[in-house]
Amino acid sequence: MRISEKIQEADWKAEKHSPVIECPDKVKADEWVKVDVSLGKAIAHPNTTEHHIRWIECFFSPDDDKFIYELGRFEFTSHGESVAGPNEGPLYTNHEVTFSFKTKKPGTLHALSSCNIHGLWESEKRVELG
Ligand code: FE2
Repeated sequence: MRISEKIQEADWKAEKHSPVIECPDKVKADEWVKVDVSLGKAIAHPNTTEHHIRWIECFFSPDDDKFIYELGRFEFTSHGESVAGPNEGPLYTNHEVTFSFKTKKPGTLHALSSCNIHGLWESEKRVELG
């Protein structure tokens, strides 16, 4: 069995685990592009000690390239943990990230999210040059 068989995919409007990738549909070659990746825009995902998003990892697969390239991995490490008990801590990290990248080729942005109890979820978005 391959890891890819365990990666789930669904429309983010109906599934709180699917990453939402927001960036322009069309960008200029070799110019920085701002990307926002979040979760639960339509249906909120919990953020508690027991149930939360651990990380989001982003990739770009340029057209006609054999490989996929990692853009970044973003960890969300505070979820109310405390010596006083679960959800008693003062801090929570929200499962949202903004970063920039640039590309010489059109291609597809991929975002992978990890829920501590519901596994891996993938979304993708086309990015054209123009
Ligand atoms: Fe979950």
